[in-house]
Amino acid sequence: ESLKRVRTRHFQSAKEAGEPFTGLTSYDMLTAQIFDEAGIDFLLVGDSAGNNVLGYDTTLPVTVDDLIPLTRAVAKAVKRAFVVADMPFGSYETGPQEALHTAVRFMKETGAHAVKLEGGRRSAKQIRRIVGAGIPVMAHIGFTPQSEHGLGGHIVQGRGESAEQILADAHAVQEAGAFAVVMEMVPADVAQRVTQELRIPTIGVGAGPHVDGQLLVWTDWAGFTTGRIPRFVKQYADLKGALSEAARTYKAEVQSGVFPAPEHSF
Ligand code: KIV
Ligand code: NA
Repeated sequence: ESLKRVRTRHFQSAKEAGEPFTGLTSYDMLTAQIFDEAGIDFLLVGDSAGNNVLGYDTTLPVTVDDLIPLTRAVAKAVKRAFVVADMPFGSYETGPQEALHTAVRFMKETGAHAVKLEGGRRSAKQIRRIVGAGIPVMAHIGFTPQSEHGLGGHIVQGRGESAEQILADAHAVQEAGAFAVVMEMVPADVAQRVTQELRIPTIGVGAGPHVDGQLLVWTDWAGFTTGRIPRFVKQYADLKGALSEAARTYKAEVQSGVFPAPEHSF
């Protein structure tokens, strides 16, 4: 893995070469460094920080001011990975001007390399304006968590006849100038059709294997999430178990006098 920075054209050439690329979310410097050194191609500083860092039940309360310091930490930590700043709910919906204002804030204040916003046809004007200012945009269609209440819950999008809606959204964001499109919770056959029809690379989160790249929320992937784990998540580690065990052992060793030992003392 070369240390040359990942650029938007690398996602395009990966699609053309049929070489799947990989992304994770990250909200801090430590994980960003680890994922970057492991060769993860892009890091999304998602508004999923609402659930995974800030303690909210949904992404809706997350603000630009919440995400700016997290995005800055991630952007500063990486040497190779492409860093995407997620635009939170309430920072772009009123129109292209608001959207560009938010995107410019992320680019000026964080060092991110691109922004992401939710919505297909409904966000096309916003995408066009941001791209027109020279800022790469990653689009996000299918299940869009910021509209969870409008969609009626965490529901797979594009089943049956509504597959055409996903196709229309995908074409709309491509025509608006997005360099890539995330598809979240979309049937694998629909995601495959989108991937074949589009010029730009597709990124799946719960969209099956026939996409150009994969993305997972790092805390799900690392085994922090308990209870309702989405079907599309694969847990690659049990960090919750590891940290819980370490905390219990630490407490027990303090109580029993095992820690600190002479080698930990001055
Ligand atoms: O905020 C986030 O983590 C996301 C991905 C799940 C696509 O938007
Ligand atoms: Na998000």
